[in-house]
Amino acid sequence: ENMFDLEPDNKFKQILPTIPIKKGSWSLDLYQYEGFWYSLSHLPGMLFAQEHFKPQPNQVILSTFPKCGTTWLKALAFAIMTRSYESEPTNPLLSRLSHDCVPFIEFNIRSSQQRLSLDVPLVSTHIPYTSLPKSIIKSSCKIVYLCRDPKDVFVSIWHFYNRNVTRVLESELGSELGITREKAVLEEDVLESFCQGLLSCGPFWDHILGYWRVSLESPEKILFIKYEDLTNETVYWVKKLAQFIGYPFSLEEEDQGIVQKIIDLCSFENMSNLEVNKNGVVTVEIGIKKDEVSTYELKNNMYFRKGKVGDWKNHLTPAMAIQIDQITEKKLSSYGLTW
Ligand code: A3P
Repeated sequence: ENMFDLEPDNKFKQILPTIPIKKGSWSLDLYQYEGFWYSLSHLPGMLFAQEHFKPQPNQVILSTFPKCGTTWLKALAFAIMTRSYESEPTNPLLSRLSHDCVPFIEFNIRSSQQRLSLDVPLVSTHIPYTSLPKSIIKSSCKIVYLCRDPKDVFVSIWHFYNRNVTRVLESELGSELGITREKAVLEEDVLESFCQGLLSCGPFWDHILGYWRVSLESPEKILFIKYEDLTNETVYWVKKLAQFIGYPFSLEEEDQGIVQKIIDLCSFENMSNLEVNKNGVVTVEIGIKKDEVSTYELKNNMYFRKGKVGDWKNHLTPAMAIQIDQITEKKLSSYGLTW
């Protein structure tokens, strides 16, 4: 079944003439909708999800801005939920990218393997809170939001796109997506776009703020986690995550070291060294044209770079770091969020 089969891109066609369009980094066309910018690879699927996605009862929504640790959060939540019946050798996380275990609601990422037959009540999204499908907002589903120091997110995005865009440029999809400029872009250019919010799902700060404010009002609805906290106090946050999504660890499980086992399974070191994540590929399906799904291949190792806190220090000049910090300070500090 394909999420674009039902009603291809009608809504997208309808709104297209009425929404602002701008060029972001890599000359990527971006479309503004409900206060956020989206690339063509994101918007049609998001509109589709807004109209058609219906969460199952007790489904958990994992939400992130791209490059905030989605791959890690998916692995942790999946491992937590499946721990009672998936022991070491059979755990799907050992043979699949976590994106191939937990689907996005706005596009499909799949490997050449058969679809997972397990019914794990987990989905993920990059959609900002205010644009989430109403069905999610109205439901009693829990949302876990993982965010990260904007400086590290910028560095992670920059690397991801530089490696990825070359690939996309080589394919037909490059022209469909409107990417025309020859790769290699200055970090300064990309930083400017990042700061102006000109990237898919941007502005980043508004994305964070949407989830943060609701998590303050309704902590039972949204668990807000920082990548840095998850890195530094992993045991605490993994237990908290398990409890929040309704799969708390029993004392017996804790005594058996199950928490640490899950942490080790999902660690950057372990995940990035798995054969599937070193050499595997996944196909990303996005709905751009009517009756047709565009696809592109991504190497799984694109999702694993360094997995460190503070790598921005190796890439950004002090002036660049200050530029980002000033926006964080201006937009988030009055709400009690700092990095
Ligand atoms: P870096 O580029 O800073 O290394 P996303 O999953 O949202 O696309 O985010 C990707 C970022 O998360 C990358 O950051 C990647 O290395 C890091 N990452 C991936 N798997 C991880 C894991 N198991 N633990 C910690 N970080 C991880």
